[in-house]
Amino acid sequence: MKALKWILGTLGVLIVLAVVAALFLMNKGAGRFDQTWDTPVEMVSISSDSASLALGRFIAESHGCQGCHGGNFAGQVMIDAPPFLAVASNLTSGAGGVGSRYSDEDWVRSIRHGVNPSGRGLMVMPSEAYHFLNDEEMGALVAYLKTLDPVDNELPPFEMRPLGKLIMGVDPAMSTAPGMMPDRERVTGVERGVTADWGHYRASVVCMVCHGGNLQGGQPPDPDSPLAPDLRVVAGWGQDAFLEFFRTGVNPSGREINKEVMPWDKFSHLGEDELTAIYLYLETIN
Ligand code: HEC
Ligand code: HEC
Repeated sequence: MKALKWILGTLGVLIVLAVVAALFLMNKGAGRFDQTWDTPVEMVSISSDSASLALGRFIAESHGCQGCHGGNFAGQVMIDAPPFLAVASNLTSGAGGVGSRYSDEDWVRSIRHGVNPSGRGLMVMPSEAYHFLNDEEMGALVAYLKTLDPVDNELPPFEMRPLGKLIMGVDPAMSTAPGMMPDRERVTGVERGVTADWGHYRASVVCMVCHGGNLQGGQPPDPDSPLAPDLRVVAGWGQDAFLEFFRTGVNPSGREINKEVMPWDKFSHLGEDELTAIYLYLETIN
């Protein structure tokens, strides 16, 4: 009897300690979610001539916006799960869309710095990649988004639930708040073309976020993803096999790469010139 009492007593104490720890982490996570940032916005000029709009449309369609914000950019509930209700915002100027109330500065603050107009760090939104778009492409993207057809779609706000707060208490990397931006310089002053230099720029926007700043391997932002490998292997593939990989997802050894962790199907929208430029750059990193 005495032993049983002792065991139950110890268990009780452990449970109380676990609850206290969980409450503490939840509170910390909630604080992280609600934290506001006064971010200086690195502003760009936004011109709506037809060349800029075409460029902006290319960036939007090849950098995955529609995968989360929907084919018509009107937003959607992405995940309704115990940790959170993840909602990708309606980007149009229809009812419930940010387009009707955003200033140019709000657009740049959200996309480039991962902070919404009320100062909260955006969740899930990959600003840690878009941060590296150059001024011209950032301006063109915003110009294009402002021309989207208005779609009425009122959505609930992004909601952090108790389990999500707990997770965020342990791991703040769920938000793209300013402190979470990778520590590297934006590649600037490079002219567009099928060149290794341009490939370096494009890789800095779309590949480095997972494969690391030197493309020699890294942990993608999703902590459940396998490591993104060292891309120096690619030089041995040859250019044709590299382009073929982005059409089929099959590497030269015949292994199919999972597009959930390595979204090759999305990158195929970059087109052959951009992918060739990336290949030319990958040949130089050996
Ligand atoms: C992996 C999914 C994902 C992708 C890809 C993505 N977004 Fe988002 N985005 C989100 C989510 C989720 C939110 C809302 C986050 C929040 O409220 O915390 C968001 C928020 C935003 C906001 C802020 C809206 C607001 O409510 O204030 C803008 C602007 C935006 N995204 C633009 C873009 C653009 C432009 C692209 C492509 C270049 C893009 N997003 C790609 C998921 C994504
Ligand atoms: C969201 C994270 C992510 C992004 C962004 C990303 N990758 Fe990957 N990549 C991965 C992961 C993870 C793997 C490993 C998948 C596996 O082995 O199953 C991978 C694998 C690869 C492979 C296969 C290597 C091999 O040995 O078969 C190539 C090639 C590659 N990535 C190139 C690129 C290029 C080029 C870009 C930019 C256009 C890019 N990746 C962007 C995560 C990413």
